[in-house]
Amino acid sequence: MPVPSLKKIGYGERMTIKPLIILPDPLLRQVSAPIERVDSELLTLADDMLETMYDAPGIGLAGIQIGVPRRILVIDLAREGEEPAPQVFINPEIVKFSEEGSVYEEGCLSIPEYYAEVERPATITVRHIGRDGKEHVVEADGLLATCLQHEIDHLNGVLFIDHISRLKREMVIKKFTKAAKGK
Ligand code: NI
Repeated sequence: MPVPSLKKIGYGERMTIKPLIILPDPLLRQVSAPIERVDSELLTLADDMLETMYDAPGIGLAGIQIGVPRRILVIDLAREGEEPAPQVFINPEIVKFSEEGSVYEEGCLSIPEYYAEVERPATITVRHIGRDGKEHVVEADGLLATCLQHEIDHLNGVLFIDHISRLKREMVIKKFTKAAKGK
């Protein structure tokens, strides 16, 4: 998901900004594969994803958005002026949804400059592996709950425009398909 205000953070060294995969690239519809171990190669991938996300700028990014079909996503919800708060979720799984919903205006770094309101469960419980290689369980609400659901959708080849009306979705896809052909 993109961040509305510009945020540029020097998070670390040895990180690489990767090109983003943009709609209608079929890669975005691919289901990502589970990660078998947390090793230095995976941590480098996580760092590159964070760097790419900060550069965009965005608040969440899934591996597939830089062309890596593995079940990893990064999130940082820190606001401008706050300390960076990077979070890495490996093999995330939603184990509980609330019945109550909440609506946020969502966007996506793979669908630049398009925003739409999406309703999702307001509170979720997510089980995942952290960058420490250990299993964690978090209960999320507010923007974190929305962002996690948006990014976990990416791991399953699902985009936020799949949650809006078919008419709106077809218009967006048409627009991006036309733009891609024009290049
Ligand atoms: Ni997205």
